[in-house]
Amino acid sequence: MKKILITRKLIKDSEDKAAKTFNSLFNTNDELYSQSKVVKMSQGCDGILTSLTDKMDKETIKKLPDTIKIISNFAVGFGNIDLNAAKEKGIAVTNTPDVLSDATAEIGILLILGACRRASEGIQSAKEGGWKWSADYLIGKQLTGTRLGILGMGRIGQKIAKIAKSLGMLIHYHNRSKLSEDKENGATYHNNIKSLFSASDVLSICCPATKETENMINKETVEYFPKGAVITNVARGDIIDDEALIDALNRRKIYAAGLDVYKNEPNLNPGYLKIKSAFILPHLGSATKDTRIAMANLAIDNIDEFFNTGNCVNKVN
Ligand code: GLV
Repeated sequence: MKKILITRKLIKDSEDKAAKTFNSLFNTNDELYSQSKVVKMSQGCDGILTSLTDKMDKETIKKLPDTIKIISNFAVGFGNIDLNAAKEKGIAVTNTPDVLSDATAEIGILLILGACRRASEGIQSAKEGGWKWSADYLIGKQLTGTRLGILGMGRIGQKIAKIAKSLGMLIHYHNRSKLSEDKENGATYHNNIKSLFSASDVLSICCPATKETENMINKETVEYFPKGAVITNVARGDIIDDEALIDALNRRKIYAAGLDVYKNEPNLNPGYLKIKSAFILPHLGSATKDTRIAMANLAIDNIDEFFNTGNCVNKVN
Protein backbone atom coordinates (compact mmCIF):
# COMPACT_ATOMS: atom_id res chain seq x y z
CA MET A 1 0.00 0.00 0.00
CA LYS A 2 1.30 3.46 -0.87
CA LYS A 3 1.94 5.80 2.03
CA ILE A 4 0.24 9.17 1.65
CA LEU A 5 0.43 12.30 3.76
CA ILE A 6 -2.93 14.10 3.88
CA THR A 7 -2.18 17.63 5.05
CA ARG A 8 -5.69 18.73 6.11
CA LYS A 9 -8.62 17.02 7.75
CA LEU A 10 -11.14 15.73 5.18
CA ILE A 11 -14.85 15.01 5.59
CA LYS A 12 -15.28 11.55 7.17
CA ASP A 13 -16.51 9.76 4.01
CA SER A 14 -13.31 10.79 2.23
CA GLU A 15 -11.04 9.87 5.15
CA ASP A 16 -12.70 6.43 5.18
CA LYS A 17 -11.98 6.07 1.48
CA ALA A 18 -8.36 7.20 1.95
CA ALA A 19 -7.91 4.75 4.82
CA LYS A 20 -9.07 1.90 2.57
CA THR A 21 -6.95 2.97 -0.40
CA PHE A 22 -3.62 3.93 1.21
CA ASN A 23 -1.58 3.82 4.31
CA SER A 24 -2.78 7.34 5.13
CA LEU A 25 -1.25 9.83 7.54
CA PHE A 26 -4.20 11.95 8.67
CA ASN A 27 -4.16 15.38 10.28
CA THR A 28 -6.69 14.66 13.01
CA ASN A 29 -6.56 18.16 14.60
CA ASP A 30 -6.64 19.89 11.22
CA GLU A 31 -3.53 21.81 12.26
CA LEU A 32 -2.22 24.20 9.60
CA TYR A 33 1.18 22.59 8.88
CA SER A 34 4.13 24.86 8.19
CA GLN A 35 6.13 24.15 5.04
CA SER A 36 8.90 22.58 7.10
CA LYS A 37 6.37 20.37 8.87
CA VAL A 38 5.03 19.12 5.51
CA VAL A 39 8.61 18.26 4.51
CA LYS A 40 9.22 16.49 7.82
CA MET A 41 5.91 14.60 7.82
CA SER A 42 6.36 13.44 4.23
CA GLN A 43 9.53 11.43 5.01
CA GLY A 44 8.91 7.85 3.90
CA CYS A 45 5.73 8.80 1.97
CA ASP A 46 4.98 8.16 -1.72
CA GLY A 47 2.64 11.10 -2.20
CA ILE A 48 1.01 14.11 -0.57
CA LEU A 49 -2.63 15.15 -0.73
CA THR A 50 -2.41 18.92 -0.32
CA SER A 51 -4.98 21.68 0.08
CA LEU A 52 -4.93 25.23 -1.23
CA THR A 53 -3.64 26.35 2.18
CA ASP A 54 -0.35 24.47 1.60
CA LYS A 55 2.22 26.67 -0.07
CA MET A 56 4.29 24.19 -2.07
CA ASP A 57 6.85 26.63 -3.42
CA LYS A 58 10.18 25.84 -5.07
CA GLU A 59 12.13 25.68 -1.82
CA THR A 60 9.61 23.37 -0.16
CA ILE A 61 9.40 21.05 -3.17
CA LYS A 62 13.20 20.84 -3.40
CA LYS A 63 13.33 19.67 0.21
CA LEU A 64 10.73 16.89 -0.23
CA PRO A 65 12.08 13.33 0.00
CA ASP A 66 12.80 11.61 -3.32
CA THR A 67 10.14 9.02 -2.53
CA ILE A 68 7.38 11.60 -3.21
CA LYS A 69 6.05 11.01 -6.72
CA ILE A 70 2.75 12.89 -6.65
CA ILE A 71 1.20 15.98 -5.11
CA SER A 72 -2.56 15.66 -5.43
CA ASN A 73 -4.14 19.05 -4.77
CA PHE A 74 -7.58 19.05 -3.20
CA ALA A 75 -8.69 22.00 -5.39
CA VAL A 76 -9.19 22.87 -9.02
CA GLY A 77 -6.73 25.77 -8.70
CA PHE A 78 -3.05 24.93 -8.25
CA GLY A 79 -1.48 28.35 -7.80
CA ASN A 80 -0.22 27.14 -4.40
CA ILE A 81 2.14 24.67 -6.10
CA ASP A 82 5.24 25.46 -8.16
CA LEU A 83 4.52 23.18 -11.11
CA ASN A 84 7.96 23.55 -12.70
CA ALA A 85 9.79 22.78 -9.49
CA ALA A 86 7.64 19.66 -9.10
CA LYS A 87 8.29 18.61 -12.69
CA GLU A 88 12.04 19.08 -12.26
CA LYS A 89 11.93 16.78 -9.26
CA GLY A 90 9.84 14.22 -11.15
CA ILE A 91 6.70 14.86 -9.11
CA ALA A 92 3.31 14.79 -10.82
CA VAL A 93 0.77 17.41 -9.73
CA THR A 94 -2.97 16.78 -10.08
CA ASN A 95 -6.12 18.82 -9.41
CA THR A 96 -9.88 18.26 -9.01
CA PRO A 97 -11.73 19.86 -11.95
CA ASP A 98 -15.44 19.53 -12.83
CA VAL A 99 -16.75 18.26 -9.50
CA LEU A 100 -16.79 21.75 -7.98
CA SER A 101 -18.07 23.72 -10.96
CA ASP A 102 -21.72 23.83 -9.87
CA ALA A 103 -21.01 24.84 -6.26
CA THR A 104 -18.50 27.48 -7.33
CA ALA A 105 -20.83 28.90 -9.97
CA GLU A 106 -23.52 29.25 -7.27
CA ILE A 107 -21.14 31.39 -5.22
CA GLY A 108 -20.24 33.31 -8.40
CA ILE A 109 -23.92 34.19 -8.79
CA LEU A 110 -24.20 35.07 -5.10
CA LEU A 111 -21.30 37.51 -5.53
CA ILE A 112 -23.03 39.15 -8.50
CA LEU A 113 -26.34 39.43 -6.65
CA GLY A 114 -24.76 40.47 -3.35
CA ALA A 115 -22.63 43.19 -4.92
CA CYS A 116 -25.32 44.53 -7.28
CA ARG A 117 -28.13 44.51 -4.72
CA ARG A 118 -26.05 45.94 -1.83
CA ALA A 119 -26.40 42.86 0.35
CA SER A 120 -23.59 43.86 2.77
CA GLU A 121 -25.25 47.17 3.60
CA GLY A 122 -28.67 45.52 3.73
CA ILE A 123 -27.53 42.82 6.18
CA GLN A 124 -25.90 45.39 8.41
CA SER A 125 -29.01 47.63 8.43
CA ALA A 126 -31.31 44.69 9.11
CA LYS A 127 -29.17 43.64 12.08
CA GLU A 128 -28.95 47.17 13.47
CA GLY A 129 -32.74 47.55 13.09
CA GLY A 130 -34.66 50.80 12.89
CA TRP A 131 -34.01 51.35 9.19
CA LYS A 132 -36.30 53.80 7.49
CA TRP A 133 -37.86 52.49 4.30
CA SER A 134 -38.10 55.03 1.50
CA ALA A 135 -38.48 54.86 -2.26
CA ASP A 136 -34.74 55.24 -2.74
CA TYR A 137 -33.51 53.30 0.31
CA LEU A 138 -30.55 51.02 -0.55
CA ILE A 139 -31.45 50.87 -4.19
CA GLY A 140 -29.02 48.76 -6.16
CA LYS A 141 -28.36 47.64 -9.68
CA GLN A 142 -30.92 45.39 -11.34
CA LEU A 143 -29.44 42.45 -13.21
CA THR A 144 -32.16 42.12 -15.85
CA GLY A 145 -30.92 43.68 -19.08
CA THR A 146 -27.38 44.38 -17.83
CA ARG A 147 -24.27 43.04 -19.52
CA LEU A 148 -22.30 40.37 -17.69
CA GLY A 149 -18.69 39.97 -18.78
CA ILE A 150 -17.14 36.62 -18.02
CA LEU A 151 -13.36 36.50 -17.86
CA GLY A 152 -12.53 32.84 -18.44
CA MET A 153 -15.38 30.87 -19.99
CA GLY A 154 -14.41 27.42 -18.70
CA ARG A 155 -16.75 25.07 -16.85
CA ILE A 156 -17.47 27.52 -14.00
CA GLY A 157 -17.78 30.52 -16.32
CA GLN A 158 -20.22 28.65 -18.58
CA LYS A 159 -22.38 27.65 -15.64
CA ILE A 160 -22.45 31.23 -14.31
CA ALA A 161 -23.36 32.41 -17.82
CA LYS A 162 -26.24 29.95 -17.97
CA ILE A 163 -27.73 31.05 -14.64
CA ALA A 164 -27.12 34.74 -15.34
CA LYS A 165 -28.82 34.40 -18.72
CA SER A 166 -31.89 33.01 -17.00
CA LEU A 167 -31.87 36.17 -14.84
CA GLY A 168 -32.04 38.26 -18.00
CA MET A 169 -28.37 39.26 -18.20
CA LEU A 170 -26.66 39.64 -21.57
CA ILE A 171 -23.52 37.53 -21.66
CA HIS A 172 -20.13 38.65 -23.02
CA TYR A 173 -16.89 36.75 -22.51
CA HIS A 174 -13.18 36.61 -23.11
CA ASN A 175 -11.22 33.40 -23.30
CA ARG A 176 -7.93 32.47 -24.90
CA SER A 177 -9.99 31.08 -27.79
CA LYS A 178 -13.55 31.45 -28.98
CA LEU A 179 -15.86 28.64 -27.90
CA SER A 180 -17.99 26.50 -30.18
CA GLU A 181 -21.50 27.84 -30.73
CA ASP A 182 -23.18 25.35 -28.41
CA LYS A 183 -20.83 26.20 -25.54
CA GLU A 184 -21.19 29.92 -26.28
CA ASN A 185 -24.95 29.61 -25.93
CA GLY A 186 -25.58 33.06 -27.43
CA ALA A 187 -22.74 34.85 -25.58
CA THR A 188 -20.68 37.50 -27.39
CA TYR A 189 -16.95 36.78 -27.72
CA HIS A 190 -14.29 39.48 -27.17
CA ASN A 191 -10.79 38.63 -28.27
CA ASN A 192 -9.13 41.02 -25.80
CA ILE A 193 -9.78 42.19 -22.26
CA LYS A 194 -10.11 45.87 -23.16
CA SER A 195 -13.06 45.05 -25.39
CA LEU A 196 -14.63 42.73 -22.77
CA PHE A 197 -14.19 45.15 -19.87
CA SER A 198 -15.68 48.06 -21.88
CA ALA A 199 -18.78 45.90 -22.49
CA SER A 200 -19.13 44.74 -18.86
CA ASP A 201 -21.65 46.37 -16.52
CA VAL A 202 -20.77 43.48 -14.24
CA LEU A 203 -17.64 41.32 -14.49
CA SER A 204 -17.29 37.78 -13.17
CA ILE A 205 -13.68 36.61 -12.93
CA CYS A 206 -13.55 32.85 -13.49
CA CYS A 207 -10.11 32.30 -15.04
CA PRO A 208 -7.18 30.49 -13.42
CA ALA A 209 -4.39 32.48 -11.78
CA THR A 210 -1.36 32.31 -14.05
CA LYS A 211 1.54 34.62 -14.87
CA GLU A 212 -0.64 36.06 -17.67
CA THR A 213 -3.70 36.73 -15.50
CA GLU A 214 -1.86 38.00 -12.41
CA ASN A 215 -3.06 41.55 -11.63
CA MET A 216 -5.19 41.63 -14.78
CA ILE A 217 -7.46 44.04 -12.91
CA ASN A 218 -5.07 46.91 -12.31
CA LYS A 219 -4.80 50.71 -12.36
CA GLU A 220 -4.89 50.81 -16.14
CA THR A 221 -7.47 48.11 -16.93
CA VAL A 222 -9.95 49.31 -14.31
CA GLU A 223 -10.39 52.40 -16.48
CA TYR A 224 -11.67 50.25 -19.39
CA PHE A 225 -14.95 49.57 -17.52
CA PRO A 226 -18.05 51.74 -17.88
CA LYS A 227 -18.41 54.08 -14.89
CA GLY A 228 -20.34 52.33 -12.14
CA ALA A 229 -19.46 48.77 -13.18
CA VAL A 230 -19.36 45.92 -10.69
CA ILE A 231 -16.38 43.53 -10.40
CA THR A 232 -16.74 40.06 -8.88
CA ASN A 233 -14.10 37.37 -8.37
CA VAL A 234 -14.77 33.69 -7.71
CA ALA A 235 -11.39 32.50 -9.07
CA ARG A 236 -8.20 33.63 -7.33
CA GLY A 237 -7.13 36.80 -5.52
CA ASP A 238 -3.93 37.05 -7.56
CA ILE A 239 -5.92 38.29 -10.56
CA ILE A 240 -6.73 41.59 -8.85
CA ASP A 241 -4.36 44.37 -7.87
CA ASP A 242 -6.17 45.21 -4.62
CA GLU A 243 -4.90 48.78 -4.33
CA ALA A 244 -6.22 49.58 -7.82
CA LEU A 245 -9.65 48.06 -7.13
CA ILE A 246 -9.95 49.68 -3.69
CA ASP A 247 -9.06 53.05 -5.19
CA ALA A 248 -11.62 52.58 -7.99
CA LEU A 249 -14.29 51.64 -5.42
CA ASN A 250 -13.48 54.67 -3.29
CA ARG A 251 -13.82 57.02 -6.27
CA ARG A 252 -17.01 55.22 -7.38
CA LYS A 253 -15.51 54.41 -10.76
CA ILE A 254 -16.43 50.88 -9.69
CA TYR A 255 -19.83 50.76 -7.99
CA ALA A 256 -19.37 47.55 -5.99
CA ALA A 257 -17.21 44.45 -5.71
CA GLY A 258 -18.18 40.86 -4.88
CA LEU A 259 -15.18 38.84 -3.70
CA ASP A 260 -14.70 35.29 -2.47
CA VAL A 261 -10.94 35.04 -2.99
CA TYR A 262 -8.02 37.25 -2.04
CA LYS A 263 -4.29 37.65 -2.26
CA ASN A 264 -2.68 36.45 0.93
CA GLU A 265 -5.75 34.63 2.31
CA PRO A 266 -7.00 34.83 5.01
CA ASN A 267 -5.36 38.25 5.47
CA LEU A 268 -7.29 40.23 2.92
CA ASN A 269 -6.36 43.81 2.18
CA PRO A 270 -7.97 45.80 5.06
CA GLY A 271 -9.03 48.46 2.56
CA TYR A 272 -11.94 46.21 1.56
CA LEU A 273 -13.30 46.18 5.11
CA LYS A 274 -13.92 49.93 5.03
CA ILE A 275 -15.87 49.84 1.76
CA LYS A 276 -19.61 49.46 2.24
CA SER A 277 -20.17 48.33 -1.31
CA ALA A 278 -17.73 45.41 -0.99
CA PHE A 279 -19.65 42.15 -0.60
CA ILE A 280 -17.00 39.80 0.73
CA LEU A 281 -17.00 36.08 1.54
CA PRO A 282 -14.29 33.85 3.05
CA HIS A 283 -13.44 31.57 0.06
CA LEU A 284 -16.66 29.54 0.05
CA GLY A 285 -16.68 28.62 -3.66
CA SER A 286 -16.68 24.86 -3.29
CA ALA A 287 -18.02 24.74 0.27
CA THR A 288 -20.91 22.28 0.12
CA LYS A 289 -20.72 18.83 1.69
CA ASP A 290 -21.32 16.93 -1.56
CA THR A 291 -18.75 18.97 -3.43
CA ARG A 292 -16.05 18.74 -0.77
CA ILE A 293 -16.53 14.96 -0.61
CA ALA A 294 -16.42 14.69 -4.40
CA MET A 295 -13.25 16.81 -4.53
CA ALA A 296 -11.44 14.82 -1.85
CA ASN A 297 -12.52 11.53 -3.41
CA LEU A 298 -11.21 12.69 -6.76
CA ALA A 299 -7.92 13.77 -5.17
CA ILE A 300 -7.66 10.23 -3.72
CA ASP A 301 -8.60 8.62 -7.07
CA ASN A 302 -5.98 10.77 -8.82
CA ILE A 303 -3.25 9.28 -6.60
CA ASP A 304 -4.60 5.79 -7.11
CA GLU A 305 -4.78 6.20 -10.88
CA PHE A 306 -1.26 7.62 -10.96
CA PHE A 307 0.27 4.71 -9.06
CA ASN A 308 -1.76 2.13 -11.00
CA THR A 309 -1.15 3.49 -14.51
CA GLY A 310 1.86 5.80 -14.24
CA ASN A 311 -0.30 8.72 -15.34
CA CYS A 312 -3.47 10.60 -14.42
CA VAL A 313 -6.04 12.45 -16.52
CA ASN A 314 -6.00 15.29 -14.02
CA LYS A 315 -2.24 15.78 -14.12
CA VAL A 316 -1.46 19.48 -14.62
CA ASN A 317 2.34 19.55 -15.02
C1 GLV B 1 -11.16 26.32 -4.81
O1 GLV B 1 -10.97 27.48 -4.72
C2 GLV B 1 -10.46 25.44 -5.68
O2 GLV B 1 -9.56 25.88 -6.42
O3 GLV B 1 -10.76 24.26 -5.67
